[in-house]
Amino acid sequence: SPGGGLGPEAEADPALLRASSPELARRLRGLALVRGGFVSEGEAAELLREVEPGLGRGRYQSDHWDRAITGYRETERGLRGSAGRALLLRVTSAFPPRRPPRPSAHVLDLLPGGRVGPHVDSVKFCGCTIAGVSLLSPSVLRLRSLREPQDWLELLLEPGSLYILRGAARYEFTHEILPDEESFFGELRVPRGRRVALIFRNDPPGENPPKPPRDPPSP
Ligand code: OGA
Ligand code: MN
Repeated sequence: SPGGGLGPEAEADPALLRASSPELARRLRGLALVRGGFVSEGEAAELLREVEPGLGRGRYQSDHWDRAITGYRETERGLRGSAGRALLLRVTSAFPPRRPPRPSAHVLDLLPGGRVGPHVDSVKFCGCTIAGVSLLSPSVLRLRSLREPQDWLELLLEPGSLYILRGAARYEFTHEILPDEESFFGELRVPRGRRVALIFRNDPPGENPPKPPRDPPSP
């Protein structure tokens, strides 16, 4: 992949990105990007071992980020194992130096039949940068312009890949994880299995950024 950096100068892996037009691909260059093979299979196994016990305790319905989402469990947690701590350090380079990621990751466990409908992450609870690591199953992340719905971008998220959304890609486009029956990357069918995502976000600007809602107590 072109260079190791994850800053706004970084390039997406072109084989993992499709756009409605070359102009749109240019406009979102460095703002929506995807890197294959960001975590190794060994690291992925260690990350899953760390987060899976926390997911097993149940599911909840509250929607922190204004998403239409089905077939999921999620939790918010600090990654304390060595793979998790190393991952947080590595994704930090995708964030502006003064706006680092929160230390706890959002762990989203999506069933094979689950989807994340089109949404923009809450500007009240989330800052300028979103970085997501996908584990277990491939999926397709689609962005669509709020103002020009014919403008879209699709990222192929393979297991072990990293994606970053920032700037216009984060604020001016919705993003969604396609449900199995719509899960295509161009002609390529991307069958959905269970997918676990580790999503890192920073705080919104402001003197006293609001705390995201806490998890409700387990049933
Ligand atoms: C979200 C979201 C995408 C993903 O939970 O807000 O957009 O990678 N998730 O699972
Ligand atoms: Mn989101």
